[in-house]
Amino acid sequence: MFPQNWIEVEVAAKHLITPDIAFLELRNTRENPLPMFTAGSHIDVEIAPGLVRQYSLIDGPGDPAHYRIAVLRQQASRGGSAAIHERIRPGDRLRISVPRNNFALAHGARRSVLYAGGIGITPILCMAERLVQMNASFDFHYFARTRTHAAFLSYIEAGRIAERAHIHFTREEGGRRFDPGRDVPAFEPGSHLYVCGPAAFIQVVLDGAKLAGWPEECLHRELFTAPDVSQNAKSESFRVRIASTGLTLEVPPDRTVAQVLIEAGIDLPLSCEQGVCGTCLTRVIDGVPDHRDVFLTEEEHRRNDQFTPCCSRARTPLLVLDL
Ligand code: FES
Repeated sequence: MFPQNWIEVEVAAKHLITPDIAFLELRNTRENPLPMFTAGSHIDVEIAPGLVRQYSLIDGPGDPAHYRIAVLRQQASRGGSAAIHERIRPGDRLRISVPRNNFALAHGARRSVLYAGGIGITPILCMAERLVQMNASFDFHYFARTRTHAAFLSYIEAGRIAERAHIHFTREEGGRRFDPGRDVPAFEPGSHLYVCGPAAFIQVVLDGAKLAGWPEECLHRELFTAPDVSQNAKSESFRVRIASTGLTLEVPPDRTVAQVLIEAGIDLPLSCEQGVCGTCLTRVIDGVPDHRDVFLTEEEHRRNDQFTPCCSRARTPLLVLDL
């Protein structure tokens, strides 16, 4: 099941900006402008029936004429990035969702520190642009394998964010990897840290931040692909109860809660189905979820009052859901 408000767009332009990153410009097939969005927003893109992926919007907020996204060709593609690279052509029509933002800039931050690893540059670039517009205090770290693999490099080096940008090439001679002692400042009240990139990169930045005294509530991350925890985690059957009707359903080890709910006719919005986007977030009234998502923060996991039924399970024999 997909978001209600699909927008039909046409691929106005598509080209490679690095050997493995495709840039796409999408425009509304109607004359209407596209909805406004805030820095850090993403859209769902329906690449083919049943194949939906999330991509960050690149431009600074407020460009209603086009949306621009960049898509890394994943080595272990589950179908989405390969299809975009191989099959999508200028002139093709796609459906997209309205923008959503799970990675918004904190209001009133005294200082922001941004980290982009590889394709994680897409939301971070938009946020850096916004911080420049706001004349806000920030630093921006961009880690890429080589100059050739760094998307938007000439734009960054020549643009308004150049003087705040620290660019690191990890695989070039003399290149430098992320070093928490060098790259993460000690926490100061009012500061916020944002990181986007591969799961391992995000983890190492967050670990470094915690060592430097950053509290969880000031750490913000955006993942587009979940680390593969679900296959290693043991799965057992349990039951879920729909609070509004009392309907109780068995979730066997090889099915997700979302699959069981949808088969039973429950209207549950789904998108990434990996615990990344938060679309399926559901309130838990009783029982303890076994959280397997990367969308909620550690603090939100500890509260156990909501979970992502597309991938998370139960630690107790029964979960009562606010549905
Ligand atoms: Fe994306 Fe569940 S559908 S978190």
